Amino acid sequence: MGSYNFFIQSICPSIFIVFLLGYPDLIESAAKKGINTGPVIDVTKHLSFLDFSSNTTPRVNNDVKLLGSAIISEENGCVQIPNHSPTIDLRHLAGRAIYSSPIRLFDPLTETPASFETTFSFQFETTSTESSLNNRSSDFGGGGDGGHGLTFILVPDEFTVGRPGPWLGMLNDACDEDYKAVGVEFDSYHNPEFGDPNDNHVGINLGSIVSTTTINASDVGIHLKDGSIHRAWITYDGLRRYIDVRLGSDGKDSTSKLVFSGPLDIAPFLNEYMFVGFSASTGNHTQVHNVFSWNFTSMSRASLRIPSTETCESKIIVHGDEHGESSIKKAPSSFLIFLAVVVLLLAVLLNLYLNRKRRERKPEDFVLPEKKQRPRPPNKPRRFTIAEIFTATRSFSELQKLGSDTRGVTYKANMLNGCNVAVKRFSTQFFNSHGLDKRRVAKEIKAISRIRHPNLVPIRGWCFDHRETIVVYDYLPNSGLDKWVFGVGVLPWTRRFKVAKDVAEALSYLHSKQLAHKNMKTSSVFLDVSFRAVLGDFGFVLDSSDSTRFESAVSQTADVFYFGVFVLELVAGRERRCDIDGVRSDLLDLAWAMHEREEKVKVVDRRMGSLVNSEQAVRILEIGLLCTLNENKGRPTMEEVVEFLSLEKLVPELPPSRPIALFPYSSTTGLCSGYSCAPFK
Ligand SMILES: *[C@@H]1O[C@H](CO)[C@@H](O)[C@H](O)[C@H]1NC(C)=O
Repeated sequence: MGSYNFFIQSICPSIFIVFLLGYPDLIESAAKKGINTGPVIDVTKHLSFLDFSSNTTPRVNNDVKLLGSAIISEENGCVQIPNHSPTIDLRHLAGRAIYSSPIRLFDPLTETPASFETTFSFQFETTSTESSLNNRSSDFGGGGDGGHGLTFILVPDEFTVGRPGPWLGMLNDACDEDYKAVGVEFDSYHNPEFGDPNDNHVGINLGSIVSTTTINASDVGIHLKDGSIHRAWITYDGLRRYIDVRLGSDGKDSTSKLVFSGPLDIAPFLNEYMFVGFSASTGNHTQVHNVFSWNFTSMSRASLRIPSTETCESKIIVHGDEHGESSIKKAPSSFLIFLAVVVLLLAVLLNLYLNRKRRERKPEDFVLPEKKQRPRPPNKPRRFTIAEIFTATRSFSELQKLGSDTRGVTYKANMLNGCNVAVKRFSTQFFNSHGLDKRRVAKEIKAISRIRHPNLVPIRGWCFDHRETIVVYDYLPNSGLDKWVFGVGVLPWTRRFKVAKDVAEALSYLHSKQLAHKNMKTSSVFLDVSFRAVLGDFGFVLDSSDSTRFESAVSQTADVFYFGVFVLELVAGRERRCDIDGVRSDLLDLAWAMHEREEKVKVVDRRMGSLVNSEQAVRILEIGLLCTLNENKGRPTMEEVVEFLSLEKLVPELPPSRPIALFPYSSTTGLCSGYSCAPFK
């Protein structure tokens, strides 16, 4: 201890001087706040996209992350939402294009938002909906021309896509009150229920799709959907908490008109790091949103954190006056200077070490602000307690029941925060009869819950208390696809085609992550509010006792097989196994028989009438049959299926007659569950 005192007495004054010279701000701010903060610096970030073509901006594909229906159109050098392709039904789509790295937009220490400036040029291209689609648009309500509009967004994560339609791709049902988001919307659709003044307005959205401020764009002579290229300028002053929004036309002599200017506190809607970009959506009526160029600059204040000098200072006050002067006078030789430098370094390290130890021991004395404000993805899956689940499902009440299968029962549940979720309670009988290792199942559940894809139902969490195995999903109000395909109503062909593609994308994505669904059937597919298909009700294990050992090897190819069966059901509008006039009929047998007789068109659900594109339906049917071929006899991967469905790859020829045996990995028997089956003639 004696030698340490020597360091303090002789060296601390010089350390202090070094700090004092180097960081004058430090002393001031540390004294003011009583925290160990270092000098204040400005963190700036600058993004510039003259266009979005990879010729001029080679890194564009790395720098811009596309979600949902957003694409980069090489042809037009722009970000396009949705993808303007003749083969795509452009209705009810949503997408986001964001800069792929988070940007610091908030200083948690001073709770000050960053200042930023952005400008971008954009255009709304109106499209005519295909004539075959027009007559059904009334099914979904609404009216008027044009899609919904474009939003400049600051969002907390890089994987959420908002709902289409009036939600502008900005928010979705899973975005609870903690979801921090700021948007400036350029809205070309009138949704009076969201407080829109007209179908041509600018709005400022803070954590909600209902704008806090809306401005009639017609008042400044701007018509968002006139087809011309507009330019927007948004300037935010974080210190004054003040926003300016300007609009004008894009061009050399672009003059801007002030649309809105006023105080705005966005701090409650920011995390320290946020993602920046655009979202857009279509509803019943379509329009393509193009962003041609984009500049963004932000500046936020940050304090460097440096080692504390407090110990040193206090020692100086005590000892400095007595010995300071004499010890400096007695050190003239160069060897001593060298020694002093070495010792100084040692002392700094020692100080660092001692300070850290002290901090660890007495956390209450040092409130570290950065610990409170870690950026965390929203809706992160978590563990639920059985008590929470019990309350939310009203003690697993019959009234809350949504459905059941061999694996267990699904309930609708209302969580305390007001969110609706779907709770799947696996039956212990299912686990016991299959001799399953529950730890492995739990691992699988956690692995799948980390996956996010627009066509997969997000997993909110799990519960393994009291020997229960429970998985909590987002709740989808539109129920399982079985009700739509086998029920009384008739799902139009374009919708069915889209469903097949959505589900194929979902499976392909899962498989690319070395995971499998393991419960692929029509009732595992759900339609969300915008009639997009999302795949849920994961099996986590294959429903077959002999499969456990080979599970990892066969589960993906089993998914493909059952996807094939699902496609047949979707096209035929009936269940695989059905009693027709008292005779058991298997759709798979029937489809192959019709293929042999070259009468596949007879399998297509006749209830769709003349609206069906028969040629397309037969091609989809062929893809379904391909999926049921044995693995080494041509069963494709889901990745290939996606390519077939998007016409990127030619569908291979089916064998002229049905192969002897077809199996997924073992045969399962399903029972007719009471939907009526139309006979085939
Ligand atoms: C918007 O502005 C235009 C032009 O000034 C005006 O004709 C229209 O009535 C305004 N709409 C609303 C809802 O205020």
